[in-house]
Amino acid sequence: MSKPHRVITIRIPHREVWALWGAGWVALLGLIFLVWIFTRPVTPPSPNKQLASETIRVRVEALLKQMSLEEKAGQLTQYSGGLMTGPGTGREDYSEMIRKGEVGSLFNVVGAAQTNKYQKIAVEESPHHIPLLFGYDVIHGERTIFPVPIALASTWNPDLVRQTARMAAQETAEDGIRWVFSPMVDIARDARWGRITEGAGEDTYLGSAIGAAYVTGYQGNDLSKRDAVAACVKHFAAYGAPSAGREYNTVDMSELTLRQVYLPPYRAAIDAGAATVMSAFNPLNGVPATADPFTLTKILRHEWKFNGFVVSDFGAVGELIKHGVARNGGVASRKAISAGVEMDMESDLYRTKLAELVRSGELPEAVVTEAARRVLRLKFALGLFDHPYTEEKPEPYVATPEKRALARKAASESLVLLKNDTPIPYAVPTLPIPKNTRSIALIGPLADSAIDMLGSWSAAGRVTDAISLRSALQTRCDAAGTKLIYARGTDILTTDQDGFDAAVEAAQKADVVVIALGESASNMTGESTSVTRLDLPGNQQLLLEKVTKVGKPMVLVLFDGRPLAIKWAASHVPAILEAWFPGIEAGPAVADVLFGDTNPCGKLPATFPRAVGQEPIFYNQLPTGRPADDIDLTHPPTGEDKYFSRYIDEVNAPLYPFGYGLSYTTFTYGAVKLSHGKISSKELEGKIKGHLFSNDIRVSVELKNTGKVAGVEVAQLYIRNTGGNVERPVRELKGFQRVELKPGEGRKLEFTLGFAELCYYNLDMEQVVEPTHFNVWVGGSSEATQSAQFEVTP
Ligand code: NOJ
Repeated sequence: MSKPHRVITIRIPHREVWALWGAGWVALLGLIFLVWIFTRPVTPPSPNKQLASETIRVRVEALLKQMSLEEKAGQLTQYSGGLMTGPGTGREDYSEMIRKGEVGSLFNVVGAAQTNKYQKIAVEESPHHIPLLFGYDVIHGERTIFPVPIALASTWNPDLVRQTARMAAQETAEDGIRWVFSPMVDIARDARWGRITEGAGEDTYLGSAIGAAYVTGYQGNDLSKRDAVAACVKHFAAYGAPSAGREYNTVDMSELTLRQVYLPPYRAAIDAGAATVMSAFNPLNGVPATADPFTLTKILRHEWKFNGFVVSDFGAVGELIKHGVARNGGVASRKAISAGVEMDMESDLYRTKLAELVRSGELPEAVVTEAARRVLRLKFALGLFDHPYTEEKPEPYVATPEKRALARKAASESLVLLKNDTPIPYAVPTLPIPKNTRSIALIGPLADSAIDMLGSWSAAGRVTDAISLRSALQTRCDAAGTKLIYARGTDILTTDQDGFDAAVEAAQKADVVVIALGESASNMTGESTSVTRLDLPGNQQLLLEKVTKVGKPMVLVLFDGRPLAIKWAASHVPAILEAWFPGIEAGPAVADVLFGDTNPCGKLPATFPRAVGQEPIFYNQLPTGRPADDIDLTHPPTGEDKYFSRYIDEVNAPLYPFGYGLSYTTFTYGAVKLSHGKISSKELEGKIKGHLFSNDIRVSVELKNTGKVAGVEVAQLYIRNTGGNVERPVRELKGFQRVELKPGEGRKLEFTLGFAELCYYNLDMEQVVEPTHFNVWVGGSSEATQSAQFEVTP
């Protein structure tokens, strides 16, 4: 017989059992929570969440059910009710059309009294009382005019850009308008194109950061707030790459370049919540952008899940006929709306053709309904149904000290010091101008031109609010007892040399010369101002040469909207300040820099060419099999130096590279250090799938202010990838930081490189990081020299 088992009974008191059981559960749940935290997919930023609201959906659907086809088409119709910013339809019977419910939006109607007038008709007399959505080209300020966008991009300060957009939004909303046609995020690599002034320049990374900042500024965190305005990302897509730099011209580029270089800024703005998009005028790879299912349907709607609406550019639906893809307005409308253009700006076609197309069976009604749904969704999100009117304030706009302070800050940070030599026999750099200077000659057609300081698209800005350089210098000189001798010298565009002698005489009499040259803001920059020459217009170059010859310490202040080809000035004029068009505080901001009260810190967002023939010129070009890196390009080829990617009459290098800009102090960068020298592509791809767990490369560098004054440096990080299956640019910006340092102060900067920074498109249009090699540079421009390398292993 087997021995009976001894049963040992351990008696655990009842309370402890429960405690143990409970603790076990807590530990398990804690573990599950930790695993979830580290592995949960990070939700990709989604398009506008407010537009996705259930409450709004219910209201929109209820309304749509009651609307006729014509009324739906009416919601998709927009006219300019004021200044024509394109070739208009000639119509002016807006009130009557609004009354019938045939108009969904008006633009260029400014001021609460004006917008309320039309709104009253829509809300009180139209069939379903649907409010109008008013739009406006608020590009760099509405009444308070800030520097033009290329100048704002020169600040490399997205938060400052956001603040300017916020102020613009408040002013725009006060004027009865809840929709701005901004930001323009078109990458522009060709200075011949006049609209380079309206964007953030040539770079994808910088452009994306700045584009998103505008959107956040305009829209705030709640579209329904009375001071929020809907942003409109434009011009979709690739409008900034017209062939030969000629406005409205065709754009032809590989899908790889489109996705890698041109699309990310639109995407960044949409991910930041932009409620609308404007389709572009240009054809892209043979299909007009306003009827392009590839960009509008496949990419925008399906890949990016954009849930706002698309408005055409001015008359672009009608222009499909000129493009030759539609033989009449009906086909143009069908193609545009089917591709995903929900609102027709100023073609007068959707209103007249859509219902007919549906009735004849050429267009499913669902397409029109979906478009109306998107427009109504935004009107609800903006709270227009609940608050259609704007308070009419008796006091006119005043550029208060608070508004001026922001305008001055933005202007100051946007100024780029291109050159500051110490000319013989002087012992100090030309700038800043010593405070005890006895006399200054101020010369040039831009020196006293307040109107030009506003730049192109100055919305409701007034010239009377703008302070010219002459006016600001006069105030300073009067206070300091300095004599200011002003001579216009010449006009912006003339052959007349009558003023030359007076200008030369002024220079002779003064201790220091400030010469302000450049472009006319409204005639030479902005829409439809492409050029074939990039020199100083008219006879300004001649004037510059004559005045320079006098031999005084001299600074050239450039007021312009694009990088000009100023090769002569770069080698003959001791100091050059790129001021762009700085807005209402132009004069004071420039004077602050000239006298050293502000230390310049702007950096170029676009490359300056030596000659127009180098255009399009940009730093992040793809490599060539015959790079001319080690070739002496300063003379024409004589033999072995011939078969390289080079010009025979000019060096390849730009005059001033992307990211460049001087300061009154100096900065030195230490060695670039990496947290690790190898990273597996799988680890990086952890990020692609959206997991928080990552082993990103951390890049660190010591930055030191080695000069005598405090200053701000924009430290920039660039990468280059080699060894993959597609060519990658010779350098690409992947990070930047604005750092303020006192004299002698140093700081350790850290950047992170993860999947988002390192990935690129392969030939299957997938974002990948292949096992390859990366070079990393950190420095003060795209020509940074400090570098380190790491490898991506399989
Ligand atoms: C045409 C321009 O291309 C666009 O940027 C602008 O918003 C519209 N006109 C409206 O004025």
